[in-house]
Amino acid sequence: MARLRTLAVHAGQHPDEATGALTTPIYQTSTFAYGGFDRGRRLFAGEEEGYVYTRVQNPTTRAFEAKLAALEGGEAAVAFASGMAAIAALVLTLLRPGDEIVYLGPLYGGTEGLFYDLVRAYGIAVTDATDRPLAEAVGPATRMIYVETPANPTLRIHDLREVARFARARGIVSVADNTFATPVLTRPLALGIDLVVHSATKYLSGHGDVVAGAVVGPRERLEPLRAEGLRHLGGVLSPFDAFLLLRGMKTLPLRMAAHAEGAMRVARFLKEHPAVRRVFYPGLEDHPGHAIAARQMDAFGGMVALDLGSEAAARAFLDGLTLFAQAVSLGDVDSLATHPYSTTHQLVDEAVRRRQGVTPGLVRLSVGLEDPEDLIEDLAQALANVPRAVAG
Ligand SMILES: Cc1ncc(COP(=O)(O)O)c(C=O)c1O
Repeated sequence: MARLRTLAVHAGQHPDEATGALTTPIYQTSTFAYGGFDRGRRLFAGEEEGYVYTRVQNPTTRAFEAKLAALEGGEAAVAFASGMAAIAALVLTLLRPGDEIVYLGPLYGGTEGLFYDLVRAYGIAVTDATDRPLAEAVGPATRMIYVETPANPTLRIHDLREVARFARARGIVSVADNTFATPVLTRPLALGIDLVVHSATKYLSGHGDVVAGAVVGPRERLEPLRAEGLRHLGGVLSPFDAFLLLRGMKTLPLRMAAHAEGAMRVARFLKEHPAVRRVFYPGLEDHPGHAIAARQMDAFGGMVALDLGSEAAARAFLDGLTLFAQAVSLGDVDSLATHPYSTTHQLVDEAVRRRQGVTPGLVRLSVGLEDPEDLIEDLAQALANVPRAVAG
């Protein structure tokens, strides 16, 4: 089988049948002519494979799905209009009222909001197992274990092999959000996880110009996601965005290597700085998840978080940055910085924020592809304005 860099360039794509175009064209069409009454009937009866309507399937989108599935080592993928559309479709099509979802957090604030505000309103129980053994958290109604690793925003690491083994033994579906690691660094399916979800908005696109999502796994398990998740819920990816993703993913392995190298240098710099109270990066030997990360990640990724001890210090630091843009999202070629406490996690319950380490002094950095020396110079000059942290 071809190696990852080769798959990133070639998987899912082939010269266009009509024209020979090497790059997959943007099939910017909502509908496809059947070419006859009887074929229409066969297509709708599922007796013949073919394109009917872009809400369900489109050739450009299919190429993106095939490339992502190949990178993740999965049989198939289903693309969605955003990461949240993918996660919502996953949960709402695979679970039913009376079922329970158990998660290992912290989770991206939007996922947490979906679970607590909407999923629960449909009669599906939500249980946080972040800080207790899974065996204690699951019950007879548990149908899904959901895990994010490295987790947003504190880079907490969960052991995917352990989660998969636990879930398999009990017939529970395991789901991993692989947005931060990408298949370049971690392949959850090979570790036994059943389904992988992505915010493709982030590293898969890589250029900050797309909002997209996907679920990857065995074809049979994904059937309800296409049949109900797309057909009924309708959060479909546009062909143009699928084209941008195909283009971005060709360089995913190269970009991830550069993100990880830059992030490691940034993390080591921050760790030595007296104004920084704590650095969260799974590549640092003193990160609590370092050993597990070293086992399940090929490198430690491009995300770094730091605690400056107070909101005032975080504000002074963020307002002093010039190369890092203050913006949400991550995984772009441009470096980004956010203050989760006052932005993405603003609406999360205070007790939950504290428990998950989303403190007023926490800043999350998405280390882009600029020269790491320039990024470190920018961080150094911004930190010069920050009141010194109290150690501990
Ligand atoms: C880990 C993770 N999962 C899911 C999402 C949601 O994806 P999207 O913004 O594409 O809807 C995000 C967004 O930041 C995220 O960071």
